[in-house]
Amino acid sequence: MTQLGDYFRQNLAQTSDAPMGLEISRAEGSWLIASDGRRYLDFIAGIGVSALGHGNREVLDAIAAQARRHLHVMVYGEYVIESQVMLARRLVELLPRPLERVYFTNSGAEAIECALKVARKFTGRAGFVAFDGAYHGDTMGALALCGNRAMREPFGALPGPVRHLRFDDESALDKIDASIAAVVVEPVQAEGGVRVPEAGFIRSLREQCDRAGAMLIFDEVLTGFGRTGKMFALEHFGVVPDIIVMAKALGGGLPLGALCSPDEILGTLSHDPPLGHITTFGGHPLSCAAGLASLNVIVRERLCERGATMGKEIVRRILAMRAPEIAAVRGLGMLIGIEFRDAAIAHRFVAATVAHGVIVNWSLNADNVVRLAPVLTIAPIEVDFGLSAMSKALDEIRC
Ligand SMILES: Cc1ncc(COP(=O)(O)O)c(C=O)c1O
Repeated sequence: MTQLGDYFRQNLAQTSDAPMGLEISRAEGSWLIASDGRRYLDFIAGIGVSALGHGNREVLDAIAAQARRHLHVMVYGEYVIESQVMLARRLVELLPRPLERVYFTNSGAEAIECALKVARKFTGRAGFVAFDGAYHGDTMGALALCGNRAMREPFGALPGPVRHLRFDDESALDKIDASIAAVVVEPVQAEGGVRVPEAGFIRSLREQCDRAGAMLIFDEVLTGFGRTGKMFALEHFGVVPDIIVMAKALGGGLPLGALCSPDEILGTLSHDPPLGHITTFGGHPLSCAAGLASLNVIVRERLCERGATMGKEIVRRILAMRAPEIAAVRGLGMLIGIEFRDAAIAHRFVAATVAHGVIVNWSLNADNVVRLAPVLTIAPIEVDFGLSAMSKALDEIRC
């Protein structure tokens, strides 16, 4: 352990008793370079953030240009800030109507909190519906939606009432009634173990929300910006939510979240009281400049289509390994889940794969499922490297 590693242990609050503790020196493309010179293939894109890989030139140039113009100048929503306005405009162009207004935040959880407040104020109702396996962030409201009791319970009474229903089960949807302000759902669950629902489930959800007068909120924090082979996962289902929440890849590697909604819904934040939901740093000019540059590259380089094809190929090749430890391989685009027969095997697989220089990890609410989310620009030869490391890891954990 280096001195920096010691300081990490001594002075940074730890999020678990087993952090990876990889000492990062720099990152480029699909690779992380550790301080001992070892290179690691980033097969999770910093958990879905680095869609373009690390150090994309256009993103870095946009950040540098914005930094020379100005950094923070005023709390969100007062001044006309070019990078913020132009990113909002580009998002609205890419989203289906009537999603036409953008509210910027600092993170995914904050955007979820904002969406919950909007839903309560707009509908005048209190209740929420979320799903088993769901993950929406760790602030109090977002945690209340979490579909894993073990994560919620240590923190006592959380905002609610929240009804948790079974994901991808149409028979439970009649629990969405006139007491519900909003249903919050990931159109493809990530931390729940990469669960891709039937299109019929998402469509029925929309219909039931309409019948009950509840709002439908899509959490596309992880699935947005090409991750599932479409710009937004909603395109797979042909369903338009009342609010879409985004973050992760939105900021091109800088912190940024957002929610997008029709004017009549998001407009509710501007009055009674005015300034009832404000943020100092939400929509930071640097983050918006980076996000706009990143989005332009994703569209221009057709990275959604590329990810759709490459993701299918990765799934096919993992299945071809015919590993008896693996119960299922599934995914959409470049969001792929490998379900192991039990969590202990999944953990051994992760450790062995990392030892071969490829970063993978298991899902928060389904630790028998190893999740892959490679950078969308990954080269075929890098995919070969990643799969070869995984194949060696499978052989080793079998011995
Ligand atoms: C689907 C989903 N929603 C919300 C969040 C929370 O986002 P943040 O960590 O930016 O608060 C995450 C983070 O992993 C996520 O995966």
